[in-house]
Amino acid sequence: MRTGIDEGQMAQAAAILRQGGLVAFPTETVYGLGANALDEVAVAGIFQAKGRPQDNPLIVHVAEQEQLYDLVQSVPSCARDLIGRFWPGPLSLIFKKAPQVPLRTTGGLDTVAIRMPDHPVALKLIAEAQVPVAAPSANVSGRPSPTTAAHVHRDLAGRIDCIIDGGPTGIGVESTVLDLTSTPPMVLRPGGVTVEELREILGRVDLDPALEEERTVRIARSPGMKYRHYAPVARVHLVLNRPGVEKRVEALAGELAKAGRRVAVMAPAESIPLYTNGQLLLEPMGQVQKPVTIAANLYGLLRKMDHLGVDDIVVQGIEEKGLGLAIMNRLRKAAGGRIVS
Ligand code: TXA
Ligand code: MG
Repeated sequence: MRTGIDEGQMAQAAAILRQGGLVAFPTETVYGLGANALDEVAVAGIFQAKGRPQDNPLIVHVAEQEQLYDLVQSVPSCARDLIGRFWPGPLSLIFKKAPQVPLRTTGGLDTVAIRMPDHPVALKLIAEAQVPVAAPSANVSGRPSPTTAAHVHRDLAGRIDCIIDGGPTGIGVESTVLDLTSTPPMVLRPGGVTVEELREILGRVDLDPALEEERTVRIARSPGMKYRHYAPVARVHLVLNRPGVEKRVEALAGELAKAGRRVAVMAPAESIPLYTNGQLLLEPMGQVQKPVTIAANLYGLLRKMDHLGVDDIVVQGIEEKGLGLAIMNRLRKAAGGRIVS
């Protein structure tokens, strides 16, 4: 397998994992912060380095399908279909955990999320380490997920043992998390595999009621910091995609700028020409016709806004279907309740 990574560095990183250390590595979604999933002490190090709440479970990454069977109690037949279609790829599947998976890894739950990432560096690293690798996104808890090694470095340098630089990640938002312990299966987090694609294989798939709730709550400017996640330092305001959305984005951004704040507008490239207020910093975030381009840019842009010292980011929302569901889920969380419909 060609990884573009020096063999010596790969062997060293694998040895660090085997010995209980922490290694950041690229996947096809975002960079992960890996540790031996079966080593409680190593896994505790992940929580410490990220400042992550202890009850937030980790995804266990494998390099081949067979590794799954040692980690779970049983594999339902629908899982085989999903694995055949989507692994390696951005789909994390939740099963009842086998006894050897520590509760530390699963945040105290009796279930475990597992995925096989579609990235040559990740696959090689896990195969060489010869252990399943627990890996959350390699950011400080609450910050936007890292899509480059530089993002990881900024958040975690000095707190972890190794960062493997495999260039920018492809998809840019995290894997879909699908719970197979409930009937019908339930999406807990929308991600790189769309709900529509899952329904093609499974027929019925439910969305976690919490996701539905999130979409119906209309709280303008009453941010619950508790729910802020994927968030830059700048305040994010999300304007939902309704007719005339550009007008409403521009009005809100103009109001904030008038109040003396440094304001940036993130909008699909197609909409950028509709913005006329010269005071606003305009950031195209990819094309609405190709949501993959928006996903790939999303976290990098949010981090860039902090770099530029922006106070407020007004984001033009997109349609919540296909990959747009995952993109809007992350934006809602980044906005922490500052949602304008
Ligand atoms: O794309 C990804 O999934 C990336 C890369 C590195 O693989 N990883 C990632 O991990 O996003 P993290 O820790 O940032 O997000 C894991 C998500 C969390 O929302 C967590 O609550 C959920 O998966 N999760 C993990 N195990 C679970 C379980 N047993 N039950 C319910 N949710 C679980
Ligand atoms: Mg994360």
